[in-house]
Amino acid sequence: MPSNTLHPTTLAAQALGWTDQATGAVILPLHTATTFERDPDNQYRRGRSYGRADNPGYDQPQALISALEGGEASLLFASGMAAATAVFHSLPLGAHVVAPQVMYWALRRWLAMADASGALQVDFVDATALDQLRAAVRPGQTRLVWIETPANPLWSITDIAGAAGIAHAAGALLAVDSTAATPVLTRPLALGADLVMHSATKYLNGHSDVMAGSLTVSREDEFWQRLVAARSGGGGILGSLEAYLLLRGMRTLFPRVERACRSAQLIAEHFAEHPNVEVVLYPGLAGHPGHAVAARQMTGGFGGMLSIRVKGGEAAAIATAAGVRLWKRATSLGGVESLVEHRASVEGAGSPVPPDLLRLSVGIEDEGDLILDLEAALSAA
Ligand SMILES: Cc1ncc(COP(=O)(O)O)c(C=O)c1O
Repeated sequence: MPSNTLHPTTLAAQALGWTDQATGAVILPLHTATTFERDPDNQYRRGRSYGRADNPGYDQPQALISALEGGEASLLFASGMAAATAVFHSLPLGAHVVAPQVMYWALRRWLAMADASGALQVDFVDATALDQLRAAVRPGQTRLVWIETPANPLWSITDIAGAAGIAHAAGALLAVDSTAATPVLTRPLALGADLVMHSATKYLNGHSDVMAGSLTVSREDEFWQRLVAARSGGGGILGSLEAYLLLRGMRTLFPRVERACRSAQLIAEHFAEHPNVEVVLYPGLAGHPGHAVAARQMTGGFGGMLSIRVKGGEAAAIATAAGVRLWKRATSLGGVESLVEHRASVEGAGSPVPPDLLRLSVGIEDEGDLILDLEAALSAA
């Protein structure tokens, strides 16, 4: 069957259905070669020369991410940060960009450093308010608007179609960090974005055993060529084994994300009423400020990530994290095991994260077990 008639769940489960033409194997081999033979007439007709530019093991995972995102082409990187920074390295020196105040903290810090050094001019805005985005872009000057939705770790929501309209009217590109949404729940390119980035370390791989990142573009234009050059020149490439493991992880992306969403919704609803919880931040709750936009642009669920603000402040939050037995106290997200983290301890001074906040990454365990464990830790704290 032509792949464009198949449901994305099927495309992911079969990794596009590719088989090894030479052997009939249903899993493609892992390629470790760093160099490729030249033809006798001095050409590289088979298209590859050196492992820093490309790797045959990228073809299938990149094609699968492109298919899931509805993009023209994708590139794998050594990490989400390598993917994200390749985008900014592909802009002209000193370019004006607009980024959210609430976003993955290490990228916010990197952008602030790029701004301080003059490499970029960065304006940070409340990206949940389209008026603020509109006021921040400079027509003819802004080169890129970066958004993240749902945004780490408050899970605030940005209207992707609205942001795309604002970016394009100013002559800028719109890039979306869609790590928390995954292509299961949101397809930013269909909503007008030009570029989608994932920390593939998270849901795409899903097993907390691979660092990886990806970029997917809506068209293979001049900016795409700059991204390709940024990867091969910058050298932030994914290892062969990691590319292989990432593809294996993506085969179960849909059932993992669907399960995590269902459990996260139940956990959010349960703790929203809890006497020791100030507030639950989850876009699937009707009271979340981004709920209406999320309901419009996310399909099939609101993600596996939520945060709770614990009554009693920072000490009570840290004590709650100390009291869990089943949830793992660890950073990162999007794996099959559930994680809890006191986020302010990671982000430090200058972070917009309240000190009483615990970030929860819901895995695929039984949701009743997860609720009981957190319930006990909250009561003990
Ligand atoms: C939303 C988001 N974007 C980007 C990154 C960076 O990805 P990586 O850790 O793979 O470099 C992370 C990592 O936590 C993230 O959560």
